[in-house]
Amino acid sequence: CGIVGYVGPRESQSILVSGLARLEYRGYDSAGIAVIDEGGTLGMRKRAGKLARLRESLDEAPLGAGTTGIGHTRWATHGGPTDDNAHPHLADDDRLAVIHNGIIENFSELKKELIAEGYSFRSETDTEVAAVLLGREYRTAGGDLEAAFRAVVSRLDGAFTLLAMHEDSPGVVVGARRNSPLVIGLGDGENFLGSDVAAFVEHTRSALAIGQDEIVTITPNSVVVSDFDGNPVEATPFDVSWDSAAADKGGWSSFMAKEVSEEPEAVAKTVLGRISGDDIVIPELEGMDELFSGIDRVIVLACGTAYYAGLVGKYAIEKWARIPVDVELAHEFRYRDPIVDAKTLVVSISQSGETMDTLMAVKEASRLGARTLSICNTQGSTIPRESDAVVYTHAGPEVAVASTKAFVAQITALYLLALHVGRIRGSLAPEVGAEAVEQLESLPEKIQWILDNEQERTEQLARWMADTRSVLFLGRHVGYPIALEGALKLKEISYIHAEGFAAGELKHGPIALIEPGQPVFVVVPSPRGSATMHAKVVSNIEEIRARGARVIAIAEQGDSAVLPHADEVLRIPLAAPLFEPLLAVVPLHIYAMGLATAKGLDVDQPRNLAKSVTVE
Ligand code: G6P
Repeated sequence: CGIVGYVGPRESQSILVSGLARLEYRGYDSAGIAVIDEGGTLGMRKRAGKLARLRESLDEAPLGAGTTGIGHTRWATHGGPTDDNAHPHLADDDRLAVIHNGIIENFSELKKELIAEGYSFRSETDTEVAAVLLGREYRTAGGDLEAAFRAVVSRLDGAFTLLAMHEDSPGVVVGARRNSPLVIGLGDGENFLGSDVAAFVEHTRSALAIGQDEIVTITPNSVVVSDFDGNPVEATPFDVSWDSAAADKGGWSSFMAKEVSEEPEAVAKTVLGRISGDDIVIPELEGMDELFSGIDRVIVLACGTAYYAGLVGKYAIEKWARIPVDVELAHEFRYRDPIVDAKTLVVSISQSGETMDTLMAVKEASRLGARTLSICNTQGSTIPRESDAVVYTHAGPEVAVASTKAFVAQITALYLLALHVGRIRGSLAPEVGAEAVEQLESLPEKIQWILDNEQERTEQLARWMADTRSVLFLGRHVGYPIALEGALKLKEISYIHAEGFAAGELKHGPIALIEPGQPVFVVVPSPRGSATMHAKVVSNIEEIRARGARVIAIAEQGDSAVLPHADEVLRIPLAAPLFEPLLAVVPLHIYAMGLATAKGLDVDQPRNLAKSVTVE
């Protein structure tokens, strides 16, 4: 879910709605705002569906003008996406408004307690329980909202960010966080709260990060942070490097189209400032060689697309740093009693830095004594703060739910890390490092070549395939995770059944799926990189062709050996084998986007999903 709060001299309604528009990628099942108007009355409007529905309703009948407000965009957990279940939730005779992100695990027992005391409820949500509880404690605390918050948070189990305001205190918004995101935006005579900096980046780039189990009270001229026991806490200031225009669609038809076009830049910016001559120098890791000395194992933790970036990273870390790497889905790692100790380096990958599954896995790894490093795209987010070190990807804000430019930036960062660790551990020959640096530097141009030369043809292919019901993706070695990513992207935004397989595994089962006409994308490795692997993949193509598959090969320019075996060939420039994923994935991103567009779907906001899933 996305959360925004505002206090200041300006009309809050439009600030809240534009903040929500920038947070909508966090969930778009419903949206709502509450505003304390000039007469001191709290008004509230909420609607099921995307933000556009709330906007329409506010255009028809605006809430009373006021300068204090909170807003919410929802990704449903408890209770379906209805008007009633949308946030804000009201309590204390509709004078108190509350919004929430997360899950309150003990909400049903709290609800029973409150019902027994005579309170009634309008929704099925856990949030309304927190609202009603806050209303009760507000009365007990004699109208002290912060004190009421303190009493409420001590009763809640689970993860939450809660924001509230009360008619009695115009010009005050109080927030609390436990394991869910919340950052503060500092303005001139105005202050903001948001799930992330996107909520306020168009108004201020000066921000404060607050820790877990802390409460913040903002007024137009003050920000006060304390822990749950009431002890004052110093929040950490940071400047937001994102340009607010970077989070706008510009002239593009969708954020996804814009973000795919930014893939070359995402790689270039992630490399920028981290190469010195033939060497990798990662400023954030300067003086931290200790982190890598004596480690005997790396575990990469991530979810979704970031997990596939991790799978690619395994090849690079093992090759250059000569350390065994396991890549695991964060939510599977945490609950299986993992074997981790002080010699384990846990590398988490997360675009948002807020994915709850990943965060919890990192915390568990720290608890078990592991060293932790985060690869992340979002400043001020939680996972880097909970980690010993961070290497930021510089992909810029990614808004479309399906990750594209962040994915190529994540792989780039993993390569930089692998080279860095390889150098520290002495396992990387200088000439190998120098060649890798050269490859990394040439990638943006090569990705651009694909966009300039193959995008149109790939989109046309996607249009022809708009009625396809199932697509398979094959790859070997580093091409395998790319096949998985190609399939995920297609599922996410076009709702077509898609699966990725290791090309060699097909004959052990999945080949039974092949019937005449079945489209299969094959990531073909470079014949120069490995003639053997290339030959093996060509044999795999033959096996499926013999059974009627329609093969679309993604192959290196100049690879003519593949031509007789494929129905279509999409070309990528030459690159050393380990770097091919950064090229081969580009046509797959374009293809998924093209197909979803051909089906008339909203590529930026696919059904049932949210970009940043802050519940487990
Ligand atoms: C969600 C998104 C995916 C994303 C995953 C991990 O499930 O829908 O597109 O890959 O989260 O997100 P993260 O922010 O941790 O990279």
